[in-house]
Amino acid sequence: MKKRERFGSRFAVIAAMAGSAVGLGNIWRFPYVLGQYGGAAFILVYIAASLLVALPIFFAESVIGRRSGRDTYGAMQLLAPGTAWKWAGLLTILSPLLILSYYSVVGGWSVEFLFKSLSFTFTENASEAEVSGYFGHFISSTWQPLLSHTLFMTMVAGVVLGGVKNGIERFSKVAMPLLFVLILFIVGYSLTLPGSRAGVEYLVKPDFTRLNADAYAAALGQAFFSLSLGVGTVLTYASYVKKEENLVVSGVGTAVSDLLFAMIAAFAVMPAVFAAGIEPGSGPGLVFQTLPYIFNKMSQAMPITSALVSIAFFLTILAAALTSAISMLEVGVAYLVDEKGMERRKATLLLAFGTWLLGVLCSLSFGPLAGVKLLGLSFFDFLDALCSNWLLPLGGVLFTLFVGWRMSKADVRDELTNGGTCNVRLFGLVYFLMRYLAPIGIVVVFLSNLFL
Ligand code: PHE
Repeated sequence: MKKRERFGSRFAVIAAMAGSAVGLGNIWRFPYVLGQYGGAAFILVYIAASLLVALPIFFAESVIGRRSGRDTYGAMQLLAPGTAWKWAGLLTILSPLLILSYYSVVGGWSVEFLFKSLSFTFTENASEAEVSGYFGHFISSTWQPLLSHTLFMTMVAGVVLGGVKNGIERFSKVAMPLLFVLILFIVGYSLTLPGSRAGVEYLVKPDFTRLNADAYAAALGQAFFSLSLGVGTVLTYASYVKKEENLVVSGVGTAVSDLLFAMIAAFAVMPAVFAAGIEPGSGPGLVFQTLPYIFNKMSQAMPITSALVSIAFFLTILAAALTSAISMLEVGVAYLVDEKGMERRKATLLLAFGTWLLGVLCSLSFGPLAGVKLLGLSFFDFLDALCSNWLLPLGGVLFTLFVGWRMSKADVRDELTNGGTCNVRLFGLVYFLMRYLAPIGIVVVFLSNLFL
């Protein structure tokens, strides 16, 4: 068998893992979910959920991935041969592909908005009404969003074709530092907008009366989505991590980058939302509707800065979406390469085409297929709800139960402490969180989703 590829350095591991974590979840989803559940108080719950429940699951997936050095299905076959655990492996090959199908549609929106920024559509001569209505008009048309979805998926496949080192690692090492620089530049702009103070206050002054049971579920769901948990991406990337690498350090590095980026993104978006006088709880279109409106409005006072920030903003969304999307595709590719002996090229093209096709339905569900409903939801919303509310938590609970209850404690310790050479004192706490708190946390949220 061909030798498996490995990430080259610690920076490469964190860049790739943080690349998977930092994505549309941070810039597009976090601000609007935060807006729906009332701002600062939600952030506190979100941070707690990320560190106490999500991070231990991240460790659990890392342990399985590196211990086995295989794809999700192969890992289960190797660590628990002949058991029903293989179904957990198969489930988590399917779920990232389902996410990718609709994620690529939103990735496509960022491609379109980047083009529009590059041609100064939002910042020159457009009327306010044209700009604010553009998003709705665009997503409900037939061909344009399909073309953007196709472009996005082609870029994703292009990176995955390059392989772990020359594709994923190389791309993430450039994209991640760039993302942080760009988003800081955007925050600077946002904070100078007239009326932005209210947005900052919204993010720092907690109002606990707005927290309800739903908010806890939403915070955990967001933490899961944002850290790319429960769908085998962390597992697969960890299988490319060298034995000497410290899994606790790369996990904490990834979680901190992800949290930090979400916070910075919120400070980039919310002041603009308040400056534009838009309701923060207005849902998924928040970022795509608010920002062009602001760029347009500010273009009289600062034409060049507004045009540049507009380009920087949509480039940030696109780059962040790409590094996440490649991790989703890699899970299935790793499976076909490892288990079926398929060539990487063939595996990538096959899976990219299949998910693209499903994505076509998601894209059309905003326009011509808007009337087609599954359980009362459009195709896009149905897939999002299925994945975020069910498949991610289900995968997450299976992985932590596997590590906490099926694997031997000695093996888990060996993996997390590199044979007793690091994190020895921390291990007890991490193991406790993986074994008890994380699964209980998820089950409680699962049940509250069902019954509340
Ligand atoms: N974490 C990514 C984001 O924040 C989304 C993602 C989910 C990526 C699941 C991989 C797997 O956008």
